[in-house]
Amino acid sequence: MSVRIAPSVLAADFGNLERDCQMINRSEADWFHIDIMDGVFVPNISFGMPVLASIQKIAKKPLDVHLMIVNPDRYIKTFAELGAEVLTVHYEACDHLHRSVQNIKSNGMKAGVALNPHTPVHSLEDIIEDLDLVCLMSVNPGFGGQSFIENTYTKIKTLKALIEGKKTNCLIEIDGGVTNENAAKLISCGANVLVAGSHVFKAKHPEEKIKILKHIA
Ligand code: DX5
Ligand code: ZN
Repeated sequence: MSVRIAPSVLAADFGNLERDCQMINRSEADWFHIDIMDGVFVPNISFGMPVLASIQKIAKKPLDVHLMIVNPDRYIKTFAELGAEVLTVHYEACDHLHRSVQNIKSNGMKAGVALNPHTPVHSLEDIIEDLDLVCLMSVNPGFGGQSFIENTYTKIKTLKALIEGKKTNCLIEIDGGVTNENAAKLISCGANVLVAGSHVFKAKHPEEKIKILKHIA
């Protein structure tokens, strides 16, 4: 399977949200990446349930929901009802990560865990077999438009070795500062899903940027 591209709606024009969602529908993108921020786990607030409900009505592709919130268990069922196909919680936000992951799966979604840039990949050693996706943050979560942290390449290789060593299936997603400059290297290190916000939406021709990312491998 070729690399999946997940444009981050956080970088869309919220005054023209329907137009930007239709652009994702038309494009070669695979998923909608949805960033939910609570102003506590990260120093920013993005948008919540009513906005996601509106996106869901328009989106014709799977919703990849990235929760940057404390105690995400409170809302797992709600995000299932809102149509999330993949639900990702942060390792750093879950005291009982195993329980959270089981909770996501029992609500019919694929389970993802995100790691902040400082969190080592080996923290997932005893749970990797339960995961459908690991999201490696390549910026500190909270804002779009930040620059890519180079150490991510090493983390992808370590994570790929962990996944292969356990003979399990788990997608590696990269989130933050992804561009057509670093995409090829990310893919060659082992990335399966590339999230791209500002690189896509700040471009003159967003659909074209998605196409380039999709075919870069
Ligand atoms: C950051 C978010 C990202 C963000 C990526 O906290 O999780 O998904 O939207 O934006 P860019 O691609 O602009 O770094
Ligand atoms: Zn994200």
